Amino acid sequence: MSRSFSVVLITGAAGWLGGLLAKAIHKDPLTPDVKLILVDIVEPKAPDGSNAVVLKLDLTESVQVNQVFNTKFGIPDTVYCLHGLMSRGSEDNFDLGTKINIDSVRSLLESTRSHSERNNPIKFIFASSLAVYGGPLPDVITPSTLAIPQGSYGFAKLVNELYINEYTRRGFVDGRVLRLPTIVVRPGAPSKAASSFLSGIIREPLQGIEAVCPIGNSFDAPELSLKAWLASPETTIKNLVHAKHIPSDKFLSHTRVVCLPGFTASVREELEALMSVAGSDVLKLVKFEDDPVSREIVSSWPAVFDNAYALSLGFSVDEGGIEPVVKRFQAHLASMQLVIAC
Ligand SMILES: NC(=O)c1ccc[n+]([C@@H]2O[C@H](COP(=O)([O-])OP(=O)(O)OC[C@H]3O[C@@H](n4cnc5c(N)ncnc54)[C@H](O)[C@@H]3O)[C@@H](O)[C@H]2O)c1
Repeated sequence: MSRSFSVVLITGAAGWLGGLLAKAIHKDPLTPDVKLILVDIVEPKAPDGSNAVVLKLDLTESVQVNQVFNTKFGIPDTVYCLHGLMSRGSEDNFDLGTKINIDSVRSLLESTRSHSERNNPIKFIFASSLAVYGGPLPDVITPSTLAIPQGSYGFAKLVNELYINEYTRRGFVDGRVLRLPTIVVRPGAPSKAASSFLSGIIREPLQGIEAVCPIGNSFDAPELSLKAWLASPETTIKNLVHAKHIPSDKFLSHTRVVCLPGFTASVREELEALMSVAGSDVLKLVKFEDDPVSREIVSSWPAVFDNAYALSLGFSVDEGGIEPVVKRFQAHLASMQLVIAC
């Protein structure tokens, strides 16, 4: 596939990360003259000034999957697979979760394979998650830690990872699997992710709105020491773009899985950062309503990783922990004139 422009397909492009990624790829200096194919079951919006095809498709229908390879832009050189049903959604509905999170990804992968050239396979970049881990875990997760998911969402991510590794080993695609930390602060409405509250307890109070914390029944509850592995949206998007530019021979020879760099914060540390940024009265807006299902899912996820391998590949990490992330989100709200005095 020798041509002077790049064609990048993004699924889940109407979603949060998909929308941000489309803008970032459109502006990426290393991807000049890019043509975007943006796909979602909800009509995606193309970034202003971009050269994009927008497709409203249900990727659980294999006929519709093939349509993404039949646009006026031709065959993409890079596929970002970001569509999916989030963790709590797939835990609550196993069959729907399997259909969206496994079957449609397999179908997209197979279609990518069938459009790949043997000596120039299409890059297939998959947004996986730390939810692949569960059960007894070491204090620090390394690239050799075994992944045994304890939820349907993590199970689906791991199934896809195995397919992508095998398709890469066989030269069917050039896979890059990114295990994303939980991303905070997510703007907008709460999502169906079990970890959604990790953004909600910052996002809502900073706008003068009540938020529910499903961990523990008070600020002093021992459950609030629950730790999470986090990254900011800015760093995550930068890393998603970077994944496209890593030469294939830089990855470990036996796997294309990379745990993206992150940092650790407890639920209490998040709330302390919130109070440090917005004043202690802001805590009155956080309602503690312990939800054992969400708590169990999030508790099964690891909270400390060794960043060394990901950093050696040139991925970036947030410096300074949770407080700068909260400050940046407050500044973002201020820039949108949404901050309500607490
Ligand atoms: N946000 C995070 O903290 C986080 C962490 C780890 C991994 N991830 C992964 O990153 C990806 C993007 O996450 P997000 O936060 O942007 O999620 P999101 O829910 O905002 O976006 C997912 C998109 O997938 C689309 N979709 C669902 N079913 C579809 C179908 N059948 N056909 C076509 N499109 C369909 C939805 O309409 C939605 O726009 C997901 O795969 C998620 O698992 C996210």
